[in-house]
Amino acid sequence: MMRRAIELAARGTGQVSPSPLVGCVIVDASGEIAGEGFYLYEGLKHAETLALEEAAGRARSGTAYVSLEPHAHHGRTPPCTDALIEAGIKRVVAAIEDPNPKVSGRGFAHLSRAGLELQTGLLEKEASRLNEKYIHFMREGLPFVHLKLAASLDGRTATRTGDSRWITGEAARRRVHELRHEYDAILVGAGTALADDPLLTDRSGLKRRRPLVRVLLDEALRVLPASQLARTAREFPLIVFASKRADKEKVKSLESAGVEIVQDEEGGRNLQAVLEALAKRSLQSVLVEGGANIAGAFIDRGLVNKITFFIAPMIIGGRDATPAVTGTGAEKIADALRLKDVETRSHSLDFEITGYPERAEE
Ligand SMILES: NC(=O)c1ccc[n+]([C@@H]2O[C@H](COP(=O)([O-])OP(=O)(O)OC[C@H]3O[C@@H](n4cnc5c(N)ncnc54)[C@H](OP(=O)(O)O)[C@@H]3O)[C@@H](O)[C@H]2O)c1
Repeated sequence: MMRRAIELAARGTGQVSPSPLVGCVIVDASGEIAGEGFYLYEGLKHAETLALEEAAGRARSGTAYVSLEPHAHHGRTPPCTDALIEAGIKRVVAAIEDPNPKVSGRGFAHLSRAGLELQTGLLEKEASRLNEKYIHFMREGLPFVHLKLAASLDGRTATRTGDSRWITGEAARRRVHELRHEYDAILVGAGTALADDPLLTDRSGLKRRRPLVRVLLDEALRVLPASQLARTAREFPLIVFASKRADKEKVKSLESAGVEIVQDEEGGRNLQAVLEALAKRSLQSVLVEGGANIAGAFIDRGLVNKITFFIAPMIIGGRDATPAVTGTGAEKIADALRLKDVETRSHSLDFEITGYPERAEE
C-alpha cells in the first residue's frame, strides 16, 4: 500500500514545487483499497483529502497510508490531520516526517493526541528519495544540485575542435528532458553557452506548473543577444549572473530582451551566493548541465548532491579534447569523489550512471 502511495505521489512530478510530492491510499476495515489521491499544487486539495473523498463512508475505521507526514497547520488548505480524524480513520501509516519546520512532527503529534494509531518509517528510503529536492531545500535552505553530463568512454565531452553534438543517442537525450522536467532550474556556464548555443528548455512533453528557469554563469557577460538563450528569454525565464564590471550597453540590451541580470563583485564565481539567490526565488532544485569548468567548480566546493553521467560507447581521444570535469580535482585517488547508491540504466547503446556523492564525514 505504501509502494502504491509513493507511486501516486510521483504523478505530481513537475507540478508541485515548492510543495512536496504526496500520495495517499485509504484502506477500509476489510483491507480493500477504498480511495487514492495525490497532490497537485494547482488542484489545491491534498492527497489525503482526495483519497478520503473517494473512500467516503468506507474510511471509517480504516487505515491511511501516506508517503509524507500529514500537515496539522492552516496553510493554503485546511489541516489534513483534521480531515483524517473527522473521517474516522483508525490508523495512519506514514513513510517519513515532513522536514518543513511548520509541519515537522506536529502532524504526527496531532494524530496521536486524537487517539489514532500511528506507524512511521515504512519505505522511508524510497519516500525520502522521491522528495529529495524538497527535503534538501527545507533542511539546508539551498537548492538541491544535480550535475548531469554526457561523455565518451574516455571521459570527453567535446572533441579537440569543440564539436560536441551528439555524443549520446536519441534515447539518452529524451531521458535528459525527463530529468529537466523534475527540476525548477537548469544551469550552465558561459563556455557552454558560447560553444553550443543551447536552448535549455524542458521538452519532455510532460505538464509542469512553473517554467524551468534557465541560469547562466557569465562573469564577463559574453552571451550574445542573438543567442538562443537570450532570444527566448521572454518565453522561458533566463537569469544571468555577471560581474558589476560587465559592459553596460550589453546589460541594457539583454535586459530589454527580457533577461534578468544579477550583478555583483563575483559575477557568479561564488557558487554558494548563486545558490542562495536561486533559493530566494523559491527554486528548490537545479540541474547543472556543464561545462567542465562549472562542473569542476561545483564539485571542488562540495555543492553537488547528485550526479548523472550518460556514457556513450565511443572514444574521442586527443590531448586537447574537453574533459568532463576540470576544477582543481583530487590530489590522490583516495580523495576522489566517490558515489554511493549507484544505479545504472541503459538507453539504446548509452549508459546512464547515477549516484550520490559520498561526503568525508560519512
Ligand atoms: N557533453 C556534455 O554533457 C557537455 C555539457 C556542457 C558542455 N559541454 C562542452 O563543454 C565545453 C564548455 O565547457 P567549458 O568548461 O569551456 O565551459 P563552462 O564550464 O560551460 O563555462 C565556463 C565559464 O563559465 C564562466 N563562469 C562563471 N562562473 C563560474 C564559476 N563559478 N566557475 C567556473 N566558471 C565560471 C567562466 O566564464 P567567464 O570567465 O567569461 O565568466 C568560465 O570560463 C563545450 O565544448 C561544450 O560543448 C559538454
